[in-house]
Amino acid sequence: MSDPVFNLINSEKTRQQEGLELIPSENYVSKAVLEAAGSVLTNKYSEGYPSFDGIGKDGEFWDEARVAEEQLKNFRYYGGQENIDRIERLAISRACRLFHADHANVQPHSGANANEAVYWAWCKPGDKILAMNLSAGGHLTHGSPVTRSAHIYHFLAYGVDASGDIDYTALEKIALAEKPKIILVGYSAFMKIPDFARIAKLKDKLPDTLFMADMAHVAGLIAGGVHPNPLDFGFHVMTTTTHKTLRGPRGGMILSKGNVASPLKKPEHTLENIPILIDRSVFPGTQGGPLEHIIAAKAVAFGEALKPEFKTYAKNIVKNAKALADALKQEGFVLEGDGTENHLVLVNVKQSFGIDGKFFEKALDCVGLNLNANAVPSDKGAAFRPSGVRLGTPAITTRGLGVAEMKVIAHWMKRVINICVGIGEEARLDLGEAEFAEIRKEVKNLALKFPVPGI
Ligand SMILES: Cc1ncc(COP(=O)(O)O)c(C=O)c1O
Repeated sequence: MSDPVFNLINSEKTRQQEGLELIPSENYVSKAVLEAAGSVLTNKYSEGYPSFDGIGKDGEFWDEARVAEEQLKNFRYYGGQENIDRIERLAISRACRLFHADHANVQPHSGANANEAVYWAWCKPGDKILAMNLSAGGHLTHGSPVTRSAHIYHFLAYGVDASGDIDYTALEKIALAEKPKIILVGYSAFMKIPDFARIAKLKDKLPDTLFMADMAHVAGLIAGGVHPNPLDFGFHVMTTTTHKTLRGPRGGMILSKGNVASPLKKPEHTLENIPILIDRSVFPGTQGGPLEHIIAAKAVAFGEALKPEFKTYAKNIVKNAKALADALKQEGFVLEGDGTENHLVLVNVKQSFGIDGKFFEKALDCVGLNLNANAVPSDKGAAFRPSGVRLGTPAITTRGLGVAEMKVIAHWMKRVINICVGIGEEARLDLGEAEFAEIRKEVKNLALKFPVPGI
């Protein structure tokens, strides 16, 4: 193909193969997921939903062989849906099975859309939402003033304590005093396992509050059985992205407990009806036509996550993350929370070596190790020059790297730090060119021993 876009795609393939992806929110999908995402389903309009009849009823889950024709009557605005309906029903049914949910909306285009749709399903403008502070590890969509949601709703924040765990006492105090419409547990840079049971206890005192978990980062760990599932502890809703530890295509999803029915009729505004309220909030509330090629790729990824091998994968993500954290500590890096219980490590580079996170991120790019600069809880205000870097093991574990390689990576990172200290500032990165090139060669040699799937 002569379009230069394809040359760039090929360059990106090489970059992915020759480097190591340490960004904790990235992964490498299988060839099957790639094929579904790149399929002719992108040609189809299918606003609306398939029929939900028979999905997840009485603990039974619909699968291709079992679907009755009458269950395929749909709530769509376009014809020609016989294949699309089956695919979307498969995605929904597999998602419900993976996460013990009564309902799944697999249409959100991204994690941000999923969160906004839940807020819109349950809250009115001005309503209060209690979520984790951005600097403590929360996500932008949890109330950052730069987002649309923050202009619509009144966000309140809780943070983390000195150990890096959620400040549960503060959370409970704010929740009981303010009675928010939503309590949201979720994060992009938090290394502990939340105490969902403790938070869900607040339900007795807050009967009108929606308990929501944004498990975008750890959904794959939940699916793999190495992380608790908030829906098992009384949470009403769980949102997630599908492309991080869950290893599916780029997208979002909303899982919920409650009544499942046609979204055509406006239901009563109750917590029991939250699945229907969410469907109406996704479409037509906040999105148009669903991306059915991506929904097909989600279905394929959920099928993969239901297999026993995925449990081993999830276990190895955590094992590698713990090994990486230990090795980094041995190299003199100071870690927020002193380590990790999940897939993610947050290094306080400033405190460790006097270098800021952005400088270190750029230097690591020079050797083919990709991660991202990130605020640490003690950083205040806008984090253009945050003190930390965030890294994780979902992608490198997919490639098959293990504990031995985690030590090698930690050592490369220390060598890069030494170069940075010598150079003194990001503007002089070119002074380290020769030394970076040496490490880059070593990174490439190791990376090529662990091929990227699907390429
Ligand atoms: C906790 C959390 N929620 C939501 C999102 C948003 O996902 P997306 O980038 O798909 O909109 C992210 C992405 O990093 C996230 O970490």
